[in-house]
Amino acid sequence: MSTLEKIIRERRSVKPSLMNGKKIIPSIIQQLLALADWAPTHGRTEPWRFIVFSGNGLAQFSQQHADLYKNHTPEESFTNAKYQNIIHNAEKASHLIAVYMKRQASQKIPLIEEIAATAAAIEHILLGAQEQGIAALWSTGGMTYHNSMKQLLGLEEHDQMMGLIYLGYSDEPSPPAKRNIALSEKTVWKD
Ligand SMILES: Cc1cc2nc3c(=O)[nH]c(=O)nc-3n(C[C@H](O)[C@H](O)[C@H](O)COP(=O)(O)O)c2cc1C
Repeated sequence: MSTLEKIIRERRSVKPSLMNGKKIIPSIIQQLLALADWAPTHGRTEPWRFIVFSGNGLAQFSQQHADLYKNHTPEESFTNAKYQNIIHNAEKASHLIAVYMKRQASQKIPLIEEIAATAAAIEHILLGAQEQGIAALWSTGGMTYHNSMKQLLGLEEHDQMMGLIYLGYSDEPSPPAKRNIALSEKTVWKD
């Protein structure tokens, strides 16, 4: 396998509960962001934006995230388990990167393309993490898409939250690789 193929094939989503608390040095996080910055971008809008949390900043964000869940969930569907989960999820991660799409003022480039470009930037982070032996999860759980999260993180009206990327190290074996639909079923060849 080529190096690139190996990295792509062996990348797995690893939940933060399987991380071990070991810290990633900031220069590696900076390298992952620099990889993300080379995603393709129609019209060169470069719509990806990152908010990087670690240490006390991460603990504070997790508490705020949990509080958003508490404050914006009807009593009948609120569960203390989920509230605690949001707080404790990040405890074993080293960093969390909130990624959002910054909508250009002119809105000239179609929305789907700005979202696609930001998703490509996220994949660069995930592949860079895999190459560095870093466990990662692209999460959209909890209140990621709720308007209150946009407010908390200072997004503007037309910006779009794309996910919370948990990063850390894990001692656990990589989760099994699994694809449910054969590639042949996803592909049509027209010769
Ligand atoms: C847009 C997006 C959102 C995701 N959100 C979550 C999530 O909230 N929680 C989670 O456990 N995994 C999440 N995942 C990860 C998927 O569960 C994972 O990619 C899938 O199970 C395939 O596993 P793999 O990444 O190891 O190949 C998300 C993936 C994508 C692309």
